[in-house]
Amino acid sequence: MMDEIFSKESDCVQRVTTGISNLDALIQGGFPKQSITLVSGSPGSGKSIFCFHFLYEGVKNNEKVLYLTLDKQEEGLIFQAKNLGFNFQEGIEQGTTKFRYLDINQKLIYESMSEEILNGNYNRIVLDSITPLSEMPMYIRNPEYTPPNYSIVNAKKASSNHTPQRRNLRYIMNALETSGATSVVTSELTLGSSSLSRDGISEFLADGVITLSYDTTMDRRKLSIVKMRNTQHSLKPQNIAITDNGINLQ
Ligand SMILES: Nc1ncnc2c1ncn2[C@@H]1O[C@H](COP(=O)(O)OP(=O)(O)O)[C@@H](O)[C@H]1O
Ligand SMILES: [Mg+2]
Repeated sequence: MMDEIFSKESDCVQRVTTGISNLDALIQGGFPKQSITLVSGSPGSGKSIFCFHFLYEGVKNNEKVLYLTLDKQEEGLIFQAKNLGFNFQEGIEQGTTKFRYLDINQKLIYESMSEEILNGNYNRIVLDSITPLSEMPMYIRNPEYTPPNYSIVNAKKASSNHTPQRRNLRYIMNALETSGATSVVTSELTLGSSSLSRDGISEFLADGVITLSYDTTMDRRKLSIVKMRNTQHSLKPQNIAITDNGINLQ
């Protein structure tokens, strides 16, 4: 009886389309609703373009979407997206799309981030990337800082044994989880790294992990679904290409 319930679990999960054609078919229709997917890859592997696809899909469905970044000013990203055919301008003017750059050096970075995440009633949120948060020097990360708990569920999961780095990453992941949005978080890998994230922690906190990689000698790009909770998927690396229209999964 229990086996039957478990085997059917993945069929009952509500799905959120990724915006990348052919990817949805590999993960039973899309990301599980309200999940957090980590997209990892070295510079130029297509992480930001992946995020554009995901958010633009939301725009097309009349959803509210947020692009949070710690790396680049909003204008540069909007420009990069537009060149690939993702025009976010209309949504921005209507207030349904928001690009927000947050300065990592500001004191209340966690508070500002969670405020953005929790107060906008977003359907989709992108955090591109989470790496600066995990690399902040100790004095800014403030090891004494105890993030507030947003829900009983999260409070139960919290533990005082966690390192400050893990607590900080968990704080942001908790905010994303609590927001009710479906999220994509990116992590910067150094070239040639076989890790799933730069910090070695995010992959455990996220519900899903997708890696993007390239082989310079063969001039080839790959996308791998490493983990996707409540989802049947292949682990086989998929060939992708980046063109004027973004990521194409062959
Ligand atoms: N029009 C295009 N045609 C082919 N490749 C492109 C095009 N635009 C961008 N790219 C590729 O995409 C990369 C940038 O992707 P991006 O998502 O910004 O990477 P990341 O965020 O992982 O650093 C570029 O380095 C380039 O290789
Ligand atoms: Mg990027």
